[in-house]
Amino acid sequence: MTNDAPRQQTDSAERYGLPALLTRASLARLSVAAAAMLVIVVCFAWAGGWLSTGRLDQTRMIDTFEAVNGPHPGFRRNHAKGVCLTGWFDSSGDGARLSKAVVFKPGRVPVFGRFALAGGMPMMPDGPNAVRSMALNFTLPDGEIWRTGMNDIPVFAVKDAQGFYDQLVAMKPDPKTGKPDPANIKTFLEAHPESGRAMVVIREHPFSSGFADAAYNSLDAFRFIDSAGVSTPVRWSMVPVDPFTPELLYPEGQNYLFDDLIARIRQGPAQWHLILTVGRPGDPTNDATIPWPADRESVDAGTLTVTGIEAEGAGNCRDINFDPLVLPSGIAPSDDPLLSARSAAYSVSFTRRAGEAKTPSAVQTGGSRT
Ligand code: HEM
Repeated sequence: MTNDAPRQQTDSAERYGLPALLTRASLARLSVAAAAMLVIVVCFAWAGGWLSTGRLDQTRMIDTFEAVNGPHPGFRRNHAKGVCLTGWFDSSGDGARLSKAVVFKPGRVPVFGRFALAGGMPMMPDGPNAVRSMALNFTLPDGEIWRTGMNDIPVFAVKDAQGFYDQLVAMKPDPKTGKPDPANIKTFLEAHPESGRAMVVIREHPFSSGFADAAYNSLDAFRFIDSAGVSTPVRWSMVPVDPFTPELLYPEGQNYLFDDLIARIRQGPAQWHLILTVGRPGDPTNDATIPWPADRESVDAGTLTVTGIEAEGAGNCRDINFDPLVLPSGIAPSDDPLLSARSAAYSVSFTRRAGEAKTPSAVQTGGSRT
């Protein structure tokens, strides 16, 4: 019995070819296979960000908003100061030739959304320098949802997430002066010449006096898909019916822009036309810092009517993520890298703020000018 055991082991080893593994050549082959496995594991670790602690991802982006602006639990990490809107959209039907999206068929769909100021400070005073925004949620009759966030500037100042991050860091106020360090801005502009060019375009574009007479632009390009599957590059804008008045006076008051908006909506509905700008081949869809030529065809897809305005609170626009990739069938993302960067960053901002205690917004709709 005792002699049989090693014999059986040898038989099994031979049957399964194990002695062959102990030769020098086999061991060399095994080492090559192990090295290849190691390379694959290292590649996965690199792609997963485990090797490079400094890699830019959505978590680092939102951590940096918090580092630059300070902690403001419960609030959006950007566009933190805002107010909710309600209303509807009447489609003209003219957008249907570009997109099969139900929202462009003639008819009315309910809309809610949010006006806000760019920046991560929820209590910041209103002022001439903050970019204004309009975010919208269209609830379509077939159950689909379209969400969009637009700004009142003609182009975006950066073309990708790295540019956005570098700008955020460069604009961090110097504790001594309360203003960004000009040396940091110079370094940023040297690294991102496209941002310098975009800022020239932005500066040439006059700001309106308030929220209601501002035009809000998608800035990012999207692809409209028609019923035959044809894809067209499109940027869109909400163009106000209220006549444009330039921002010449900066009234006193912490919330003068929001207070004027609230007073304006109380007087009666404010309206905007949804203007689709149709790109031509060669128009950049992957760089929101570059304007498209002014002669591009535009289509008036319908009218947004805003009738209601209310302070952020439980269950209204406060608790929504206006993710620009929540799109109905018939509108698709373009190759603009900002879109996926936005979607990822908004998700982290939303997840954090959703789990935090809430304090009232600076903008309360019951009060008078503060
Ligand atoms: C990589 C680039 C960008 C980053 C990291 C970024 C970051 C953010 C974050 C963190 C929020 C708050 C999200 C939330 O908690 O719900 C936000 C809101 C917003 N962003 Fe961006 N953003 C970027 C680019 C853009 C661009 C290109 C636009 C163009 C229109 C834009 C327009 C808006 C608007 C309108 C809001 C306010 C939405 C609301 O009222 O809820 N952002 N952004």
